[in-house]
Amino acid sequence: MTITLDNMLNGHRAAFPDAGPASLCRAPGRVNLIGEHLDYNGLPVLPMAIDRAIYLAFSPREDNLIQLRNQDRAFAPADFRNTAAIEPSQRGAWENYCKAAIVGLNAHFHPERYAGMDLYVDGDIPSGAGLSSSSALVVATTLAYLSVLGKKMEQDITRLELATLLAEAEQYVGTRGGGMDQAVILLGRRNHACMIHFFPLRVTHVPVFSDHAFVVCNSLVKAHKTGAMLERYNEGPLTCRLLRAVIEQQAREDYDDDLRIDRLADLWYGPLGLTHEEAAYLIERATPDEAVGLAWIAQRLGAPEETLRQDGFKELVEPPGGFLLRTRARHQITEHQRVEAARDCLLADDPEGFGAAMYHSHWSCAEDYRVSCPELDAMVHTAQAAGAMGARMTGAGFGGCTVNLVAPEQLGRFQETMHRQYYQNNGFPLDDIDSAFLPVRSADWADYMVQER
Ligand code: GLA
Repeated sequence: MTITLDNMLNGHRAAFPDAGPASLCRAPGRVNLIGEHLDYNGLPVLPMAIDRAIYLAFSPREDNLIQLRNQDRAFAPADFRNTAAIEPSQRGAWENYCKAAIVGLNAHFHPERYAGMDLYVDGDIPSGAGLSSSSALVVATTLAYLSVLGKKMEQDITRLELATLLAEAEQYVGTRGGGMDQAVILLGRRNHACMIHFFPLRVTHVPVFSDHAFVVCNSLVKAHKTGAMLERYNEGPLTCRLLRAVIEQQAREDYDDDLRIDRLADLWYGPLGLTHEEAAYLIERATPDEAVGLAWIAQRLGAPEETLRQDGFKELVEPPGGFLLRTRARHQITEHQRVEAARDCLLADDPEGFGAAMYHSHWSCAEDYRVSCPELDAMVHTAQAAGAMGARMTGAGFGGCTVNLVAPEQLGRFQETMHRQYYQNNGFPLDDIDSAFLPVRSADWADYMVQER
């Protein structure tokens, strides 16, 4: 059923018959066009908000109870009390995303009363598909709670401040992600991609191609950021922390004993101000060609392995073959260059150049950063054979979707080839195939649709 204002308000009324009039807000999903696994290192990314969203009908309550109902029965009803310390539910529970938003705003505003609300959720972003349905839920809950607290966007907190706050707040659910999703959801603009820089957060809107489509294709391999998937995702940010320490050590030896590198982005954007070539040279000197264990890293840093484990690496499990610091770092450098090149291609209306950067990005994610999977790789090969100008995995990886840049005259052939060579050959049921092609359009930022107060 399509989501309309009426459906939402009726859904809310049916779920909470005693509640007062409901307000409505919407937060879009996003597709990352290029710049994968860079945000948590402070490096720029280029995503776009899409015309699929999480919708929330909400009303305030007199007490401090938060009641959550979802149109999709796969998400069980959840109730909890809004207090000074809200405990997370078990890992992977959907209500944790709502709790994350409320805990984040409580820490910022210190409200006099921990207000309750009745929330009814619906949406058309496929979950576990790498299109940020979870961050959209965080942002939608944020808009609802701001309204219940009587706070006005831009007046009491700016969108940039909110995006920065929520990037931090979402860590409550256990992921160690960066700030890309919250920023593009709160600051995206129709017909534009967002070039996002971090620390401090800055967003520039870059017009997307007017005649070429971005088609999202779902691999139908679910990659919910819960359980094992969450650990696989977190391995990226945690390994990059080790990488940062090893590179800082090398930079101190090369340049200055007192040098501090707080995040990888400091190599380019901090006082060092290195070029891509200089950064590549430094990283090559800092990281060995082969995989290394924690013991090697500890020795390089002159710190006992035990201290290292306590210093923010408690959750880090050493991969069986050791850490591939060199290839992980290489992805950071080359992907950073591709983001800049892709932004320039948008500005120069050069879809060929943009598409080429997308293919390179995919294979860098797969071979250097190791966040792809056989199905995503097969889809990218098929897309290339089907005439896509560019194709790559998008989002956290390990499943989820690819994003494809397709010329208008190639759309039919593209869909037909993907259909036959990926979906049919892999035996996916027809119903799933129909929902697997998502010809997305760019969309505007998260906002209120109906406000009762
Ligand atoms: C997830 C995270 C983002 C980002 C991407 C990978 O979507 O939430 O912060 O790290 O993965 O680019």
